Amino acid sequence: MGKRFAIIVGTRPEIIKMAPVIRECERRKVDYRLVHSGQHYDHAMDRAIFEQFQLPDPHVNLRVGSGRHGEVTARILERFEAYILQEDIRAVLVHGDTNTTLAGALAAAKLNLPIGHVEAGLRSFDRTMPEEVNRVLADHVATHLFAPTPAAVDNLRAEGIKNGVYLTGQTAADAIEFLRPGLAEHPILNELHLKPGAYVYLTLHRQENTDHRERMDFLIQGIERVGKELGFTIVCALHPRTRGRLIEYGWLDRFYGIPGMRVVFPPVDVFASLALQSQAAVVLTDSGGLQEEACMLGVPCVTLRENTERPETLAIGSNRLAGYHPDTIVEAVSMMARAPRGWTHPYGDGRASIRILDIFLAE
Ligand code: UD1
Repeated sequence: MGKRFAIIVGTRPEIIKMAPVIRECERRKVDYRLVHSGQHYDHAMDRAIFEQFQLPDPHVNLRVGSGRHGEVTARILERFEAYILQEDIRAVLVHGDTNTTLAGALAAAKLNLPIGHVEAGLRSFDRTMPEEVNRVLADHVATHLFAPTPAAVDNLRAEGIKNGVYLTGQTAADAIEFLRPGLAEHPILNELHLKPGAYVYLTLHRQENTDHRERMDFLIQGIERVGKELGFTIVCALHPRTRGRLIEYGWLDRFYGIPGMRVVFPPVDVFASLALQSQAAVVLTDSGGLQEEACMLGVPCVTLRENTERPETLAIGSNRLAGYHPDTIVEAVSMMARAPRGWTHPYGDGRASIRILDIFLAE
């Protein structure tokens, strides 16, 4: 493609997983525009990632900020469409399943532009998750679907998407290879006085969990019992949404007071997050990205959800679904802490970004 294209990102996971693609664009000196929607704006969730991956500044930041889903999506749609027209953009690359992804893909679809969707084909089959709606819709307007695993290819085929599907590997593998040197020596491990294998690394931010008081109550009970009954220190990188809900429910002190709890707020940057994962006994999370990252780092994961769009991790035994009941959480952490770690991860050879650009630019 000799024509100018745009890459749109907006949230922490998109910036991390598009970083290798952006670096490859810079290396090849292609004519592209990097657009930041502004959905995430806190330092650790935005600027720090650009610095750690040595990314160029975005050409534009649409500064949409936070808000209701429809509101944020609509703001991006409107501002991105104007930018596409103003900059004579002829194709668009989006990533993943956020509101930025959907708005970016939709703006391009309305203008009949080719759309590449990186991390296409993931499915939790749970339409109550905003991410599931976003990824399904993005896949159905995309012209180039870059699937990270064979299971993702199968999901697309099952929905009747036959053309433009490419198995590329997961760009998160490229990103981890870039940051892997130095993970074990990261200063955060000393700063928090952590012994490898003696702590559980916790993240919790999904709306389905944080926005249900009863479910949060169960989750907190489960986390308390992991500390008490299994003797682990718990290191929690607290997401701003989760902190907000804990304050609303009057449970912030309860959460900080969990025996063995060390809360890190504002949340850590990606390098520190990977370092904390890499030395943990178990990663305990409701994040999709962390299920993959833990798998690639060779660390067992327990997922605080009843479903996952990363079934490959369950199949190879690197991950276990615990739901949100305290009993199942304790049981899963106890089992996974003792599980063998020798799996081979299914996310490719760390060259997904090269393949994606080869295909997208060949048109
Ligand atoms: C979004 C993505 C989710 C991704 C997650 C990673 C959607 C639908 N969801 O969820 O897939 O896993 O990012 O973090 O797009 N906030 C801040 N500072 C920020 C960003 C957010 O304080 O820099 C707070 C705001 O109060 C905001 C809330 O977090 O309302 C939620 O942010 P939002 O981007 O809507 O959703 P996430 O839960 O971060």
